[in-house]
Amino acid sequence: MPAIAIIGAQWGDEGKGKIVDRLSQKADVVVRYSGGDNAGHTVVNKRGEFKLHLTPSGIFTPGTTSILGNGVVINPSVLIKEIEGLNSRGIDTSRLYISDRAHLIMPYHVLFDGLEEEAKGDAAIGTTLKGIGPVYCDKVGRLGIRAGDILDKAAFKKQLAGVLKYKNALLTGVFGKPPLSLEDIYQEYCGYADRLGKYICDIIPILEEAIKNNKVILMEGAQGSMLDPDFGTYPFVTSSSPLSGNACLGSGINPSQLTAVIGIFKAYCSRVGAGPFPTELKDATGDLIRETGHEYGTTTGRPRRCGWFDAVVSRFSTKINGFTGAAITRLDILDTFPKLNICTAYKLDGKVIDYVPGNTAAMFRCEPVYEEIDGWQCNVSDIRKYEDLPLAARRYLSRIEELIGCPIKLISVGKHADQTIEVGKLH
Ligand code: GDP
Ligand code: IMO
Ligand code: MG
Repeated sequence: MPAIAIIGAQWGDEGKGKIVDRLSQKADVVVRYSGGDNAGHTVVNKRGEFKLHLTPSGIFTPGTTSILGNGVVINPSVLIKEIEGLNSRGIDTSRLYISDRAHLIMPYHVLFDGLEEEAKGDAAIGTTLKGIGPVYCDKVGRLGIRAGDILDKAAFKKQLAGVLKYKNALLTGVFGKPPLSLEDIYQEYCGYADRLGKYICDIIPILEEAIKNNKVILMEGAQGSMLDPDFGTYPFVTSSSPLSGNACLGSGINPSQLTAVIGIFKAYCSRVGAGPFPTELKDATGDLIRETGHEYGTTTGRPRRCGWFDAVVSRFSTKINGFTGAAITRLDILDTFPKLNICTAYKLDGKVIDYVPGNTAAMFRCEPVYEEIDGWQCNVSDIRKYEDLPLAARRYLSRIEELIGCPIKLISVGKHADQTIEVGKLH
């Protein structure tokens, strides 16, 4: 019963979509367990290039079951568009399932995300404005509407009426905005129920059956560990946990069934939105990484902040997730650099530390302590065997492996699924 969690180890956009698509060739089920359409997972394979926000990245493998777990928050209109886009390109979505327990993003969530960010002014998080914070607030605040709820239209109307009374009071009283119409939202979501109803079900029996029959299950993470609400750079984080612990909570697979946890690391670092980023390069080198790597957000198109590989963050990520293996992506983006830096420690108020401080104000003050490593200065994107990589690239990877504290199992040298070097067994 291999259940393998695929986790973003940094600040998101590590290449999870690429790795999940590649691994799904040998998987039976792919389940997404957290986040919503704040995620943007790019897949490039023989079917073309795809940008997925909700659909699990295993959707391209014929016969593989794709599940949106209970931990995911779903904007139905985004999902419908995504399904239609996939279908129009010949991708079969008949094996897609949506947990009836997954919370739905409602129009007021998107509205409040924008209003709250605006109200924060300079202290804004730089969210994707998809309603993610507000929908997870409602989930724990017991005001949420779940996918299964909209299938019982009469009960849904009552539920929505209760929630909307409260939301409209906030909208008009606090933000001075016009109220939302119950009837409009009700009708809109009844339409979504008609369209998505066939996908919505209890996913537990599907996963139970897969486990019983020794099927390979991939648990696809969204975001990255440093955006975790507990262990990330709070409050500059997202609102659901990207960590391996939540792979279980967000899908219903229990912790004793988890067989491997693979951390996805970029060969350098990037971050979108505000918050501390000790190795950020606000210079020509940072610009060069951004332009070489086309580092612009998949979801919002925002330029990503770029910097050197941060081993302090990466080691922390290995610890809190229990990585049993790592995938290093985008090695090819560093092809032209004569010298590379790896951050091995931070200098905080004159003292050298080797951990991520829990206090975000302190994290903002951390300066990177670098170790310089020679670059390889040749094209690695056509290499498929570890031993064929230039010596300098192998040295760079070995040093990363040593610093993060878990074995490298996969190396990605290009965006296409085939551009992957397999180093060892995943589980
Ligand atoms: P995700 O959110 O973790 O799935 O990552 P994104 O899709 O947002 O961003 C990763 C970007 O890197 C995408 O454009 C991928 O196509 C691309 N990518 C993934 N792996 C590699 C790689 O090894 N080399 C290059 N050049 N691009 C890659
Ligand atoms: P994938 O799955 C990178 C960031 C946002 C913002 C913060 C909070 O593609 O790796 P939110 O909209 O979640 O409330 O925004 O989190 N963020 C991501 N950054 N990749 C992502 O997803 C992200 N999802 C959210 O930029 O800083
Ligand atoms: Mg992304």
